[in-house]
Amino acid sequence: MARITASVYTSHVPAIGAALDLGKTGEPYWQPVFKGYEFSKQWIRDNPPDVIFLVYNDHANAFSLELIPTFAIGTAADFPIADEGWGPRPVPRVIGHPELAAHIAQSVIQDDFDLTIVNRMDVDHGLSVPLSLMFGQPRAWPCPVIPFAVNVVQYPVPSGRRCYSLGRAIRKAVESFDRNLNVHVWGTGGMSHQLQGQRAGLINKVFDNAFLDRLIADPQALSAMPHIDYVREAGSEGIELVMWLIARAAMSERPPRVVHRFYHVPASNTAVGHLILENT
Ligand code: DHB
Ligand code: FE
Repeated sequence: MARITASVYTSHVPAIGAALDLGKTGEPYWQPVFKGYEFSKQWIRDNPPDVIFLVYNDHANAFSLELIPTFAIGTAADFPIADEGWGPRPVPRVIGHPELAAHIAQSVIQDDFDLTIVNRMDVDHGLSVPLSLMFGQPRAWPCPVIPFAVNVVQYPVPSGRRCYSLGRAIRKAVESFDRNLNVHVWGTGGMSHQLQGQRAGLINKVFDNAFLDRLIADPQALSAMPHIDYVREAGSEGIELVMWLIARAAMSERPPRVVHRFYHVPASNTAVGHLILENT
């Protein structure tokens, strides 16, 4: 049986990817950001997953206003790195896990969630920056990754409640896969940020830290928070945080072990938040 042993949460700020790719991680601005992930890189070397189910959002690179899937599961054997305007990031292409992805699609769709099945998809910074933060700069990513794209870019986006129940359905799907696999579920994006309009640059440390507390201790209550609260408190792009509820709900009902918690401002326009939770 496949089992979810841990979940990882992290922001996906594209400038973090650029800092890595351009060799700037030791610069005073970036040094504290990467320091927050040193523990995580060792932890994942010590606790290597067989597969990562990576919940992220595309930023109009794989999809556009022509086609807006609310939830899209990548079932392909591999996923090229997207060209976001200045060439693809110099990182390894992402190897998928078509068997587990197809099984999850089967199980979750039969559980009444209408997933879009994607057999060809370029993956952007939303997916590649979290991989870089956790694994550094390897020649190949150490395990297969199932990309799971959530629309948080174009309204209407899914509710926290919907994301939470989807996470539970994903847990059930993984646990019914008939192979011994250690699966990590990652929730990415956030934390507070607004990239547009009069409030561009908005950061809300109080909201972000309360979100982390509630995500750990009472995610079901947190899932009832309406969109307007995310947007008001965490900025228009803070809505990316609903994706963290999918990963959190994929964890067991028992309280998790908090292995690592990190929060840092500034990084580009975004508050960087990071958590590692283990199932007990
Ligand atoms: C930034 C953050 C994001 O989440 C994103 O998708 C693009 C830019 C930023 O902080 O610059
Ligand atoms: Fe983003």
